[in-house]
Amino acid sequence: MNTASLAAATADYTVPQLWRILAKTGYFLGLSGAIGATVTYATTVRPALREGEREDGGVLRGRVAAFLAWSGVALLVAGYFQLAARVARVGKGMPFGDALAPSALWDFLRAPAAKGAWIAQGTVYLVQNLVLLVTAATLMALFAPAARRHLDRIALTALPLALAVTFVAAVPAVRPPDVDTWLNLVLDQAHIVSGTVWLGGLVLLVALAGTRRRLGEGAGLLWADLWRRFGLVAMVCVAVVTVSGLWLSWRHVAAVSQLWTTGYGIALLVKLLLVAGLVAAGAFNQLWLMPRIVRARSADDTASLVHLTLRHFPKVVWGEVVLGVAVLAVLPFIAGSSRAEAGSPKAVFSGSVLGAGVALVAALALSLYATVKASDILARRTVGARPA
Ligand code: HEM
Repeated sequence: MNTASLAAATADYTVPQLWRILAKTGYFLGLSGAIGATVTYATTVRPALREGEREDGGVLRGRVAAFLAWSGVALLVAGYFQLAARVARVGKGMPFGDALAPSALWDFLRAPAAKGAWIAQGTVYLVQNLVLLVTAATLMALFAPAARRHLDRIALTALPLALAVTFVAAVPAVRPPDVDTWLNLVLDQAHIVSGTVWLGGLVLLVALAGTRRRLGEGAGLLWADLWRRFGLVAMVCVAVVTVSGLWLSWRHVAAVSQLWTTGYGIALLVKLLLVAGLVAAGAFNQLWLMPRIVRARSADDTASLVHLTLRHFPKVVWGEVVLGVAVLAVLPFIAGSSRAEAGSPKAVFSGSVLGAGVALVAALALSLYATVKASDILARRTVGARPA
């Protein structure tokens, strides 16, 4: 395809304005911080610290508290700009600067319900932003030293609140007409939650690994456990983000060739290449680093264990964080639809689509199970191979 025909093919594609790019990327970065950090604390850090009361608990809990407090600030700022972006989008042609005005926001939130709607869209966003305010305030309470004694309670309260921020925004003001639209609502939210848990979790763990100079003798053992636990969380996220992502892709892309012949497709292709990099780094951690960590652990080789868990692993994860932020930066460019650009018919949900989906989920579950098994076998083999 030469440039002229590519230009013709993507003629219907509109590059989003800068304020939309910053608002959407900022919003999902804010959600990654709030959802990702609270879920990762609940599923990974807290259980690891509680196992045999680790010496480094104080240092890590202090860093978690600071991270959560700042993710509250990020969520508040991102939420404000995302709301203003919604106002600017509705107020066709309204300058973004005007949409930032509290009066413009209030008018938008108080707008009456549209014809056929069971609730006003503004009311849905009013509730969403009230939940967002409470979530941010709950997290920011951790700036107060006295509140840090209640880290567990605050983090476990902020977790469902942070999830509610995205779930409430997805409440349809007009009752969805068919299964297809309901499925899209549910899978879109599954996509957002699994993506933000994965990315937010990576960022929290590299922030915690940054405390390595203040950690004690047992740090290698603790971190071997932290990376193992998060590895399982990340695998579930990969599965959910892939299945839901394929559904979202099917809805907007009618043919593989549209990935390089439409503006929407090209943006999605860039995103998929970035995600492939993330998955490859994850596979390297699971199949190369984890077996060596198991070997160092069984050999009581503290120096190698600390090097692998607190120097090598965080380096790889920093790479994943950069790729992850790039994924969120590409998101606003995945706008419109390849089907519309290419004049392809709308996606129609059918039994065969459901069948394909079920087969895909089974294949994905199998491949992830195989990855865990392979990592175990490699670990046992390296331990077995250890010189007597
Ligand atoms: C690190 C992995 C990923 C993250 C963090 C992520 C995150 C997101 C987010 C936050 C959205 C916006 C949803 C919305 O505005 O409602 C989105 C949209 C989308 N994602 Fe992903 N995603 C990831 C991987 C994938 C994968 C693997 C696929 C495909 C297999 C995919 C396909 C899509 C599509 C097609 C959309 C656009 C949907 C639309 O046009 O409404 N994503 N993604």
